[in-house]
Amino acid sequence: MAGKKVIITGVPGVGKTTVINEALKKLRESGIEYQSINFGSFMFEVAKSENIVKDRDQMRMLDRVVQKKLQQSAGQAIAKISGNVLIDTHASVKTSKGYLAGLPEWVLREIMPDIIVLVETDDDQILMRRLTDDTRARDKEGSRAIAEHQQFNRSIAAAYAMMTGCTIRIITNADFLLERSSTDLADVLR
Ligand code: AP5
Repeated sequence: MAGKKVIITGVPGVGKTTVINEALKKLRESGIEYQSINFGSFMFEVAKSENIVKDRDQMRMLDRVVQKKLQQSAGQAIAKISGNVLIDTHASVKTSKGYLAGLPEWVLREIMPDIIVLVETDDDQILMRRLTDDTRARDKEGSRAIAEHQQFNRSIAAAYAMMTGCTIRIITNADFLLERSSTDLADVLR
């Protein structure tokens, strides 16, 4: 039987990786297995092997053409993975030339997701999480810019649903409510 393909997105620092890890723990306890894949890591491996970047945060600064080429390689590699797959990625990436679609037609055609999840929370909570995360080179922007990015992601997710027939689920990952957001994600994946 073909597995489920679920794509999970959210602006940097919203906490999607944290929610994914908690949700997968819950699923494992009830005997449900998902392979969790980070789209950015696939892109990064190719970019690193070609000596284009040193860390993953440099990827969104690359020329659009290069980013698209990396996106395509990642999409093709991920499409070959069978079983239940959870893909951690971005609905859109903020570049110096504007928003870049994270899941353009040539990537969606390869993956054909069943569900796209948008992880969201209040803009000022995301701002605080970015400011307190020393491990990454997060974009320095205000809460209004974060709000615009979250809004853009909803709009582009609607286009993805039109292209693939997938459903769109919004999950809120509010401060101190990780238990709730991870339970919501586990329910989507069951
Ligand atoms: P990616 O690896 O996805 O990087 P990211 O967006 O920065 O995502 P992270 O996983 O680092 O952050 P997160 O939002 O999941 O937050 P976290 O769980 O760490 O992508 C890397 C790069 O790849 C991109 O920049 C892009 O260049 C490229 N890329 C990827 N996909 C692409 C695509 N499709 N097309 C083109 N390029 C693509 O949590 C953050 C903080 O919040 C932590 O400190 C955590 O403790 C805290 N936190 C989390 N939840 C809570 C809560 N409920 N309450 C309080 N604190 C919380």
